[in-house]
Amino acid sequence: MNTGPSAIIIGASSRIGTALRRQWQKDDGIDNIIAISRQHLGADDPGPDSKVHFIRTDYDEQSIARTCERIKMLTRSVSRVCICNGILHNEDMWPEKRIEELNIDTLRNLFTINSVIPVLWLKALLPLVKSKDDCVISVFSARIGSIDDNRSGGWYSYRASKAALNMLLKTAAIEYARRAANVKLMAFHPGTTDTPLSKPFQRSVKKENLFTPEYVAEHLVNLMNSQTADGECSFIDWENKAIAW
Ligand SMILES: NC(=O)c1ccc[n+]([C@@H]2O[C@H](COP(=O)([O-])OP(=O)(O)OC[C@H]3O[C@@H](n4cnc5c(N)ncnc54)[C@H](OP(=O)(O)O)[C@@H]3O)[C@@H](O)[C@H]2O)c1
Repeated sequence: MNTGPSAIIIGASSRIGTALRRQWQKDDGIDNIIAISRQHLGADDPGPDSKVHFIRTDYDEQSIARTCERIKMLTRSVSRVCICNGILHNEDMWPEKRIEELNIDTLRNLFTINSVIPVLWLKALLPLVKSKDDCVISVFSARIGSIDDNRSGGWYSYRASKAALNMLLKTAAIEYARRAANVKLMAFHPGTTDTPLSKPFQRSVKKENLFTPEYVAEHLVNLMNSQTADGECSFIDWENKAIAW
């Protein structure tokens, strides 16, 4: 059992999640990293002295509950949580350009992965993060989930699933403020980052606006270090600029 500050990365195979893990491995302020994923990660783990613990999960409620039991055995002090899960496309799904392309399977999948899974973690983690010490939870959202900022339309399922995520986070923040006032919640927009998620859509992005996962991870670590629990959920980008809900 580790008593020093721990960081938990959920959806740890994400390119940004992987960069975060490497960043925290070098960080003396973090004693213990718990990396959770559907994938069997760990092959690139630097060895037995590593402060990283890998846990595999299926993201159903039982699996999330079992994972939280394991986290309880590993750490007494969770100070950082990043929930990275999110998809935009796969071999069966592509962002919709026209309303005729909407279908129930894509909507259901994107809502499950992008909105439901993150809030199930917030439900399960509450007793683990509630403490006298500060804890910052950053959930990966996207600017495209901003209702106010929607000027170009399209990408119905992704937009709507991130907007739903934002509402779930805003609502959870109100309850966390009462029940776990030490926790700061953030809906984080990483900016366009060079990962498999954005790969097919990078052609129209200017080089200077396409970030490496390492650049985003460094900004996110600093951003989380600068937060204090204020009972609010902040919707912010990698530069700490607020985004309209
Ligand atoms: N890249 C960008 O330009 C960009 C821009 C705005 C927002 N974001 C957001 O940033 C986050 C990280 O994305 P990334 O760019 O790092 O993408 P990525 O490398 O493609 O990572 C995909 C993420 O989604 C999870 N995932 C994939 N399929 C899943 C499934 N069936 N069930 C549950 N989880 C699943 C993976 O978790 P496992 O480890 O469990 O596989 C992983 O965390 C996402 O929420 C994305 O929406 C990215």
